[in-house]
Amino acid sequence: MRITGVVCSPRAGGNTEIMVRQALAGAADAGAEVEIIFIRDKHILPCDGCLGCKNGICHLQDDMQEIGEKLVASDGILIGVPTYWTVAGMGANFLDRVLPYGYDGRLANKVAAGIAVASRSAVDTVAGVLRRFFIWGHMHCVECICHYGTKPGDIVQDKYAMNQAWDIGRLMVLYAENGNNYPGDFILPISEYTKRRM
Ligand SMILES: Cc1cc2nc3c(=O)[nH]c(=O)nc-3n(C[C@H](O)[C@H](O)[C@H](O)COP(=O)(O)O)c2cc1C
Repeated sequence: MRITGVVCSPRAGGNTEIMVRQALAGAADAGAEVEIIFIRDKHILPCDGCLGCKNGICHLQDDMQEIGEKLVASDGILIGVPTYWTVAGMGANFLDRVLPYGYDGRLANKVAAGIAVASRSAVDTVAGVLRRFFIWGHMHCVECICHYGTKPGDIVQDKYAMNQAWDIGRLMVLYAENGNNYPGDFILPISEYTKRRM
C-alpha cells in the first residue's frame, strides 16, 4: 500500500505541510509506505490549454512527468492546499497539469483525501475543488477536511485538526485494504469518529 502526499504551499513548515505530514504519519501507522512531494521544490510550467492531454500526453517537459508517474504508482493520493482567495496558485497549477494522468483512467479507483487550510474564510471552496478533482479522476475520496491557521505552525495548537489529519491518513489505508469500503468504526462520519476517540 503506497500513499503519496502532495503539499501545494510555498511555505516550508507551514500549516498545510504540517497537516499532510500528520496524515501521512497516520497512513504509515496503518502500515502504508508513504512519500511526500513538495510542489514548491518542483519546476512545473503552467498549463497552456492545448488539450493534447486528452490523448494522455502533455507536451510540456518539466518535473510533472516524474510526479505524475509517482501518482499513478500510488494506491492513494493525498493533496494539501492552502486558501489564497480560493485554491492557492501553486495548487491550481499542479491540478491543471495532472490532467494527462486522469484522462486515460490511470488515477481511477485510487483512494484519495484532501486537506484545505485557511486563516478564516473560503476554505470550503478549496475543499470543493479537491472533491471535484477526485471525482473527475474517478478516485474514491474518503474526505476533504478544512482547518485553520494563519502563521506557520498555528495549526499544531488545534488538537482536533491534528487528530483528524491523522485519522484521514489511517482511513485511506484501511478503506483501500477493505476493498474500498469503510471499515469498523470508520463507518462513522470522520468528524464524529475523531471527536469520539479524543
Ligand atoms: C495571497 C494569500 C491569499 C490568502 N487568502 C486567504 C483567504 O482568502 N482566506 C483565508 O482565510 N486565508 C487566506 N490566506 C491565508 C492562508 O490561507 C493561511 O495563512 C494558511 O495558513 C497558509 O497555509 P500554509 O501555512 O500552509 O502556507 C491567504 C494568504 C495569502 C498569502
